[in-house]
Amino acid sequence: MKKAFVKSYGCQMNVYDGERMQEQLAAIGYGLTAEPDDADLVVLNTCHIREKAAEKIYSELGKLRRAKTSREKHGKETLIAVAGCVAQAEGAEIVARVKSVDLVIGPQSYHRLPELIEERRGSGKAVIETEFPEAGKFAGLAAPKTRTPLTRSVSAFLTVQEGCDKFCTFCVVPYTRGAEYSRPVADVEAEARRLAELGVRELTLLGQNVNAYHGVAENGETVSLAGLVASLSKIDGIVRLRYMTSHLRDMTDDLIEAHAGNPKLMPYLHLPVQSGSDRVLKAMNRGHTAENYLRLVKRVRAARPGIALSGDFIVGFPGETEKDFESTLELVREARYAAGYSFKYSPRPGTPAADRSDQVEETVKDERLQRLQALLRGQQRDFNQACVGKDLEVLLEKPGRQSGQLIGRSPYLQAVHLPGEGLKPGDLIQARIEAVGTNSLSAHCREAA
Ligand code: 5AD
Ligand code: SF4
Repeated sequence: MKKAFVKSYGCQMNVYDGERMQEQLAAIGYGLTAEPDDADLVVLNTCHIREKAAEKIYSELGKLRRAKTSREKHGKETLIAVAGCVAQAEGAEIVARVKSVDLVIGPQSYHRLPELIEERRGSGKAVIETEFPEAGKFAGLAAPKTRTPLTRSVSAFLTVQEGCDKFCTFCVVPYTRGAEYSRPVADVEAEARRLAELGVRELTLLGQNVNAYHGVAENGETVSLAGLVASLSKIDGIVRLRYMTSHLRDMTDDLIEAHAGNPKLMPYLHLPVQSGSDRVLKAMNRGHTAENYLRLVKRVRAARPGIALSGDFIVGFPGETEKDFESTLELVREARYAAGYSFKYSPRPGTPAADRSDQVEETVKDERLQRLQALLRGQQRDFNQACVGKDLEVLLEKPGRQSGQLIGRSPYLQAVHLPGEGLKPGDLIQARIEAVGTNSLSAHCREAA
């Protein structure tokens, strides 16, 4: 049996795509290996969001090239495929730079992986597939016969929306993932039901602009994300729903109401703001001000008290002054985050901000990043600390490192460790939170459902 090694970098959608590639490969007889040197096919499912992410791929490809040469001496086929957002952005450039790459496959074409492998074998030439095909990839993805790590877990990702039309001036996503697209409702429901039948209990609906979801229902009507959440809540076995990533401009009233009225929709909102300075927000083409953001956060908290808020931030966007940066700190203090993801601005080729002449110095970016991260870490600690002594609902996911221990997630996405006697993954329990560790909470079970 041939073996494939698939590694995904970057966001959750890439994780989802990687799993779907594994399903496609399993369908043509590949087994999976965790050892790249052992693989007949290596797929690097890449991320292009920041420079470091992309550069990592080239160093990885260097290592793979050496492994390939030594395997080929023993007559073993070794195909190297670059998939994902670097594949889309760089295309043929990858093969020009690393001759041993056999396949370059963009995020909209990976359903064709089996036939592209055949094409590579037939032609003996590298295959580059970075079109955005008319017939969508979702329709071309066969329902899997095997369970992948994703569908084995009680918590699974499900892409419902993909691509972006908003064109923030720093971001590559509109170029690598293409135009905004929503999967039809029936298609999403069928996949959700299949996952539920495989034992999945929690779904995280994915999209670069997930709350812009507007899928067509079978009766021809358009369904919003709130509508989709309502219908997926009715599927037997699905006890929790989450969604990410949202944009402020698409935070509609019905979605906010869903947080108030639907107990299966988890009290967690990932809502990137990027900056707290209106001047920078404008230059980023975000289409909102700091005040719009804070007002929205207030409304969401009124609808669902205690909801956990997380955000993304960029420091050192071109032209960002110390005063602009302080506005970001100010916004963070006011919004109060349960988790925050902050990044140094990284100029991405082909995006408008990359061409600006007022780039911020690296040392300044470093210093701002440290200050912001210290603030966010403190807020996360406070959020976690406030949970101690409370009972939280925990969905148990997997065994912990210590024997008998289980790890689950709270509604706020915190990892929770507890003694698992009489319990198993998939159980939804009430847990009393006892202490805050470095990356998780410890607890004991108060009540099993
Ligand atoms: N530089 C730094 N961070 C970026 N992000 C997106 N593009 C860039 C860039 N060019 C961050 C944003 C986004 C997250 C996924 O990555 O904060 O929300
Ligand atoms: Fe990376 Fe963005 Fe592509 Fe996800 S969509 S893999 S974050 S570049």
